[in-house]
Amino acid sequence: MKTTETSTLIEKYERLVEISCDLSSTLDLNKLLNRIVHAAADLSNAQAASILLYDEKNKQFFFQAASNMDSPVMKGLVVPYDSSIAGVIASERKPIIISDTQRDPRHFKKIAKPTGVLTRSLLGVPLLTKDKVVGVLEAINKSEGDFTEEDKKLLLALGAQAAIAIENTRLFQQTDLISELVHELRTPLASLSTASHLLSRPEINEIQRVQLIHSIQNETNRLSEMASSFLDMARLESGRMPFLHDSFNVKDMLEESLEVMRYKADEKKHTLELKVLPNLPELIADRNKIKQVVINLVSNAIKYTPNGGKIIVSADQIENEYIIYIKDNGLGIPEDALPHIFEKFYRVPLLERVATGTGLGLSICKKIIETHGGNIEIQSKVNEGTSMIIHLPYKQPRGN
Ligand SMILES: Nc1ncnc2c1ncn2[C@@H]1O[C@H](COP(=O)(O)OP(=O)(O)OP(=O)(O)O)[C@@H](O)[C@H]1O
Ligand SMILES: [Mg+2]
Repeated sequence: MKTTETSTLIEKYERLVEISCDLSSTLDLNKLLNRIVHAAADLSNAQAASILLYDEKNKQFFFQAASNMDSPVMKGLVVPYDSSIAGVIASERKPIIISDTQRDPRHFKKIAKPTGVLTRSLLGVPLLTKDKVVGVLEAINKSEGDFTEEDKKLLLALGAQAAIAIENTRLFQQTDLISELVHELRTPLASLSTASHLLSRPEINEIQRVQLIHSIQNETNRLSEMASSFLDMARLESGRMPFLHDSFNVKDMLEESLEVMRYKADEKKHTLELKVLPNLPELIADRNKIKQVVINLVSNAIKYTPNGGKIIVSADQIENEYIIYIKDNGLGIPEDALPHIFEKFYRVPLLERVATGTGLGLSICKKIIETHGGNIEIQSKVNEGTSMIIHLPYKQPRGN
C-alpha cells in the first residue's frame, strides 16, 4: 500500500475512533447520527449519506439524519419497506453496492423529488442490533467511479456505531426511572445554578448571602437524598439488592429509627411517641431495610402533618403476623389518591407544596416489605390523619 493511501486510511479510522468516543459521551441521538452521516459521506467520497430508521409497526422507513438534510422536508420522509433498496438491505441484513440505481427496479424513485437529489450509485448497510434491524445507512453518488469494498467496510463500522447509539437512546428512553431522574434533577439543579450565580454578584448583602448559602445547602441535601432513593429503587427493581435474615429486637430498631427523625419532628414541634409492649418477640427480617421503611414512613408522617402534631409508632405480634403502626394526626390522603399512593413518583397534587419529595419513598417501602412477604396497609382520612400499617410474616422460633 502506498504511503499516501496508508495515511488517508489511518485518517479514516481516526475519524471512526472519534465517533465511537462521542458515542459513549453523548445521549443526544440526533447530534451523533448527524456526525455519523457526515463521516459516512466524507469517508466514502459520496455526495450525501443518510440514516433511515425502520418503523416496524407501519413497515416503513423514515429519514432520521442526512448529510444534506438542510430542509425540514426531509426529516420524517417516508420510504416503504416493500418497494425500496432500504427494504432489501434490511430484509437480507447485508450491505448492497449498486452502480446505477435508476436502472434498478428495487429503487424507490419517488424519493428524488422531495430530496432534490437523483440517486445514481448507492452503498447501503443495515443497522443491526443484537436481535433486529433498526434501520439502514446509505451513501449515495460516489464522486468518482463506484463504491469500493473499502467504503463498504467503513460504512459497516459507522453503521455499527449508529445502531448502538440508537439502541442506547431507546433503552434510555424506555427506562422511565432514568427519564424521571433526569426530569427530577432539573429543579434542584436550576435552583443551585441560580443561587450560585446570585452569590457571585457583588451587590448582594449579608442577609441575602446567608439565605443563598442556606438554599444551596438545602438543594444539595435534596439532591443527595434523591440520589439514594434512585439508587435504592434501581437496585430493588433489578433485583440487585441483597436481603439479609437478621433476628432482632424490634423495640430497639424502632427507638433508633425515631432517634434519626427526632430533630425533624422537633423542628415542627411534633410529639413523637413509641408504644410497644416490653415482651415482644424478635423478628427475623433484614433489620436495616425494615428500619429504612420505618424512617421513611415516619418522615412522611412528619412532613404531611401540620406543626404541633402527634405521631405514634407501635408494634405488635399477633398470630403469624408482626405488625408495625405509624400513625399521625395530619393532613390525610384523599380517597381518590389512595390507589396511586404506592406508584413511583406519585405525589398527592394538593400536598405537593406542603413538603419537598420525589414520590419514591412509598414505592421503595412497598417493594422492601413485599420482598419480605408482607404488605403495607393505609388507613387515612383527610384532615384527621393517616395510619401506615406494616404487616410482616412472623414465624415462631422452633423449640419455644
Ligand atoms: N402520612 C402521610 N400523610 C399524608 N399524605 C401522605 C403521607 N404519606 C405519604 N403521603 C402522600 O403520598 C405521597 C407519596 O409519598 P412518598 O413517600 O412516596 O413520596 P414523597 O414523600 O413525596 O417523596 P420522597 O420520595 O422524598 O419520600 C406524598 O407526596 C404525599 O402526598
Ligand atoms: Mg416520603
